[in-house]
Amino acid sequence: MASLQSSFIMFSSAPKPPSSRFPGRRHRSQISCSRDGGGGIDRRNMLLGLGGLYGSGSSLGHKAEALPILPPDLSTCDPKGTTTTPPGSQEVVKLDVDCCPPFTDKQADYKLPKFKKTRIRRAAHRLSREEVEKYKLAMAKMRELDVTDPDDPKGFTQQANIHCAYCNGPYDQVGHPGVDLQVHNSWIFFPWHRWYLYFYERILGELIGDPTFALPYWNWDNLKGMTLPPAFDDPSSPLFDENRNQDHRGKAVVDLTGRSGITDPTQLVSNNLALMYKEMIGGLDNALDFMGTAYRDGDESPPFGLGGTSENGSHTGIHIWVGDPRNKFNEDMGNFYSTGRDPAFYCHHFNVDRMWTIWEKLPATYSKKIDDDDFKNSAFMFYDEKKNLVRVKVADCLDYTKMGYEYEYSDLSWLNSRPTKKPVPANLMKLANGLPTAEKVFPLKPVKAVKFLVPKPAKGKADEALVLENIVTDNSKLIKLDVFINDEDDKPDELDRAEYVGSFTQLPHRVKGKESVNNLRLNLREVYENINIADDDAVVITIVPQFNGDAVTIGGIKIIRRSAK
Ligand code: C2O
Repeated sequence: MASLQSSFIMFSSAPKPPSSRFPGRRHRSQISCSRDGGGGIDRRNMLLGLGGLYGSGSSLGHKAEALPILPPDLSTCDPKGTTTTPPGSQEVVKLDVDCCPPFTDKQADYKLPKFKKTRIRRAAHRLSREEVEKYKLAMAKMRELDVTDPDDPKGFTQQANIHCAYCNGPYDQVGHPGVDLQVHNSWIFFPWHRWYLYFYERILGELIGDPTFALPYWNWDNLKGMTLPPAFDDPSSPLFDENRNQDHRGKAVVDLTGRSGITDPTQLVSNNLALMYKEMIGGLDNALDFMGTAYRDGDESPPFGLGGTSENGSHTGIHIWVGDPRNKFNEDMGNFYSTGRDPAFYCHHFNVDRMWTIWEKLPATYSKKIDDDDFKNSAFMFYDEKKNLVRVKVADCLDYTKMGYEYEYSDLSWLNSRPTKKPVPANLMKLANGLPTAEKVFPLKPVKAVKFLVPKPAKGKADEALVLENIVTDNSKLIKLDVFINDEDDKPDELDRAEYVGSFTQLPHRVKGKESVNNLRLNLREVYENINIADDDAVVITIVPQFNGDAVTIGGIKIIRRSAK
């Protein structure tokens, strides 16, 4: 096997790496408008001016290079600024949806209140009838406000619009006109949603006069929770939403991997557990792998693919699975502007938040802390349950126990769902026979499954990662690509096998341009152990398009040493 690599040319024409962490992000001018009240020079550029002490490379642990994301200025929210892109089209479409919240200039920093009793968020499938009735009552009151006082920030439509405003364009970043504020695909994903749910829960509690009221989580990572929770599937209930995929009601098993094709429930469950294991444990080498990429003041919205494993994985999977394919923009849950209109969305996100709390407690070889002030000082605006407009900081939500809630325990069905290790490594000589090398195949538009050889920097079981570079996508399309390694069996539906490396997934979304450029990095350390890799100096990679391979072009592919991130 040692001679395999010499039989093909090392590819030297790999595409150039993008010039910044997110290609297409805005480069700020040297002197920009000041918001520090000083002499018009922003802090970041001053630091760069002092000899560029801080590189723009790794985002863990560096401090003063940039600035945190600032809370939006509600007075500049654009009521006509809500947009999306329809499937199959390239244009950014204006939506006739005013997502802006009511405005007041009375605002204050939020202080976590003292609490006597912890709210216990229970698994939705275990709720008693009484608990469901209470939840329905609270939701009915919240929906009522839509009619009696549409400007009450506690109303359901107002609550749903919060998500829209932070994701579909109405807010620009303060001090950066034209640069969207976007709470997905980066390290603020978990903290922002945690705050959003926190107030949503408190408002519902307030509406029924119960300060210990807790909302349930959709326990989709557990064998018993892998259907739409029944409480949400009753058409006469305020928890119901008709804008859902009708094939995914009743006993239909969720597909956390976000595909629509597989129907065999046993395979679905197995895939779900394998995905959970990978996104929580097996595919992670540092905190940002899980949390998502750094996102700082003035950065353009990070593209899909730079979100953390959980956000890109099970989180997106559920959005796709619930969203209604009969609707133009996959409303409600299949689009960020409308997802908050489905009560199931919040139930879903309580489990996403629970995943964050679980991940933090799982043993790992890396630190779970993000020691970066830009992360901790990022801030957002919400209305609390007393209709006060408050400013909240990421730092104040990092210890969730101080926020007064806890999740009821539920078995982690996926903890041991690492794929079965292959006893015998693939016969690469045979597998590679007749296959092209990567350089012959890229740039690649994966309209159908494609297989090719990729050289390894070191032989055998080294610490390496697979990088798909310059993935250009049509933002209007739902896209899903699965990646396999040394796959002799070619069973693309079975993601619970050792040979499955990971996926690229994109929900149709709105950004300024019609195209995004992404990179995807998939860690191989554990995969190499699982496939019991031989002492080869190349691997065979298979890319299988699940949705809209024709809406993607991948610039290049390479395997790097993990230390060289
Ligand atoms: Cu803000 Cu699940 O999306």
